[in-house]
Amino acid sequence: MAHKFNAKKAEILDSADRRKFLNPDSILQKAGLSRDTVFADLGCGSGYFAIPASLIVKKVYAIDVQQEMLDIVREKIRVVKLPNIEILLSNESSIPLPDNSVDVLFMANVFHELDDRVAILREAKRILSGSGRMIIIDWKKMEMEMGPPIEERLSEDEVVSICEDGDFRIQERLHAGAYNYMLVFVRTEYERRGR
Ligand SMILES: C[S@@+](CC[C@H](N)C(=O)[O-])C[C@H]1O[C@@H](n2cnc3c(N)ncnc32)[C@H](O)[C@@H]1O
Repeated sequence: MAHKFNAKKAEILDSADRRKFLNPDSILQKAGLSRDTVFADLGCGSGYFAIPASLIVKKVYAIDVQQEMLDIVREKIRVVKLPNIEILLSNESSIPLPDNSVDVLFMANVFHELDDRVAILREAKRILSGSGRMIIIDWKKMEMEMGPPIEERLSEDEVVSICEDGDFRIQERLHAGAYNYMLVFVRTEYERRGR
């Protein structure tokens, strides 16, 4: 089983240091969101991206396999009163959302933690609207003081190859700071149909 981020260390996700090398506002700006976007943050953790995203988009689904993480998000929402975030507990290989219900599926530092990438990519295709996009941010595969050990990381090209095998096409490779990459995918099936 892939190693999961320890919910007891959730404060690391919200640290001031992290904001310097992976700033949520600048990442979300690059994600091309609008007032009409339905945004699913899979592996939302403590809501580092889900909460600022809710100020930009129509609806946010904050989804995680760890209830402790979702409890943190719930408490943050209670304090700042954000009515457009829905919190959902998921299991390892499925996403609890209807077909064609999401415009942007966002995974930040989650893809390397997935036990069953094939299943999640199948779910991604199912929940995304035809023109929907999947955005994957993850740790660069290089030695550094923070983040998961190098043997747990996936290089940018490995992620592209896995997603291409799952019927996604890379649309954009964006800069996400010194330690992370940001990849934007679209569904190849949708492109083939030419809709
Ligand atoms: C390193 S944390 C990142 C949290 C958040 N995305 C961020 O960048 O602040 C990874 C999160 O992904 C969640 N996760 C791992 N596998 C998952 C899966 N199959 N489905 C949903 N969440 C998952 C973990 O529970 C954890 O909260």
